[in-house]
Amino acid sequence: MRFSTAAAAAIVAIASSVSSVNGFTVSSSSLSSFTSSSANNFVRRAANPRAYTQTSSSSSLNMSATPLNVGIVGATGAVGKEIVGVLEKRSFPVANLRIFGSERSAGKNVETKFGSVTVELFSEDAARECDVVFLAVDGDFSLAHAENICAGNDGAVVIDNSSAFRYKEGIPLVVPEINAEATKGKKLIANPNCTTAIGLMAVWPLHKLFGLKKMVMSTYQAASGAGQPGMDELMEGTRSVLSGERAVAENKIFAHPLPFNVIPHIDKFQDNGYTKEEMKVTWETRKICGLPDDFPVSCTAVRIPTSRAHSESIVALFDKPVDIAAARKALEEAPGVKLVDDIDNLKYPMPLTATGQYDVEVGRLRKNIAFDNALEFFVVGDQLLRGAALNAVVVAEAMVENGALQAKVAV
Ligand SMILES: NC(=O)c1ccc[n+]([C@@H]2O[C@H](COP(=O)([O-])OP(=O)(O)OC[C@H]3O[C@@H](n4cnc5c(N)ncnc54)[C@H](OP(=O)(O)O)[C@@H]3O)[C@@H](O)[C@H]2O)c1
Repeated sequence: MRFSTAAAAAIVAIASSVSSVNGFTVSSSSLSSFTSSSANNFVRRAANPRAYTQTSSSSSLNMSATPLNVGIVGATGAVGKEIVGVLEKRSFPVANLRIFGSERSAGKNVETKFGSVTVELFSEDAARECDVVFLAVDGDFSLAHAENICAGNDGAVVIDNSSAFRYKEGIPLVVPEINAEATKGKKLIANPNCTTAIGLMAVWPLHKLFGLKKMVMSTYQAASGAGQPGMDELMEGTRSVLSGERAVAENKIFAHPLPFNVIPHIDKFQDNGYTKEEMKVTWETRKICGLPDDFPVSCTAVRIPTSRAHSESIVALFDKPVDIAAARKALEEAPGVKLVDDIDNLKYPMPLTATGQYDVEVGRLRKNIAFDNALEFFVVGDQLLRGAALNAVVVAEAMVENGALQAKVAV
């Protein structure tokens, strides 16, 4: 397939403007969106993550009171880079930031608001010296090291972004706006799958109102869900096609070429025909929301050639009759949610508007016409933020608040 020069130029322009965000060389315009009123609203509202109807002050963290030694493993990757940024923007009380990596990045310098940090070669002993360690590495790494890092009274609190511990009994799986209290007295916390965390931000306030009965989700997931290498493959593959170098892009990370394609396959296929990514939504929704082990949740997860922010179409069936005005009000008041639902002015959630935002966008809210007591809506969230880094840092904030995370030594 060939593009006209004008069409190709337009696509390249869009791709490069997105990549400037995804390459984490965040421009001043996208930075200003972080400090926009919506982000500030979130900061204020999330100070008490359980307070759904609270829109101001409430119990904010006294961040200056408890400076902590913070470690990040994997800060050169897609999620780890964002954790550094969220710690900076939320003024997390960092006494000392330590960044751990593999031989690939050990010795490199990372410039942060907390100073220039030299990446240390990871070791369990060094990580244990921290008060809190964010793991942004793969599941095998977490399985091998997370429990050793937090073992004993002198170990660190560990917040793990992988799926290694999400389904293990006794280890809380937390979206702080839903179940922050589960972190109390715990030292190892699992951060949820990004798709689940984003969707539940919208579903939870509606569940509180009408009582969730069943849920069907279809996703449109960005390349960066596969980490920095996924993002790089999309950008390079798109470039190779637009330049005329290749008719179809090469693929190593994804099962098929992603540019100009849609792939209904994320993670491994399971015996029941679902993929693991799809089953994560089912398993994690049940655990986070405290629903029964057989609670009906079905998902189809699809990779699309956007670079960042996952989109989800959700059909939610409820026990009680639904009311659109009440649903809108609940979403407007929910912490971490931004209702973007003004069809007359063509305003609805999109990856381009949700990228870099702390709030999850929810819109296209309507009564579903195929089922009784059902709502249908579209959710878009930055999966590297709400689906990973932001969620992890807000978990840490909740743990500071409830005493589960404290400085081990006076600093
Ligand atoms: N991408 C997403 O949207 C997303 C969302 C939610 C959760 N997650 C989860 O978050 C985790 C990180 O994902 P990612 O997308 O950020 O991956 P990524 O971009 O591939 O980054 C992986 C990071 O792991 C580090 N690493 C690898 N082996 C290491 C070792 N032996 N010792 C120390 N560091 C090591 C790498 O550092 P070096 O460069 O030093 O090797 C790199 O910084 C995964 O478990 C993923 O499933 C990802």
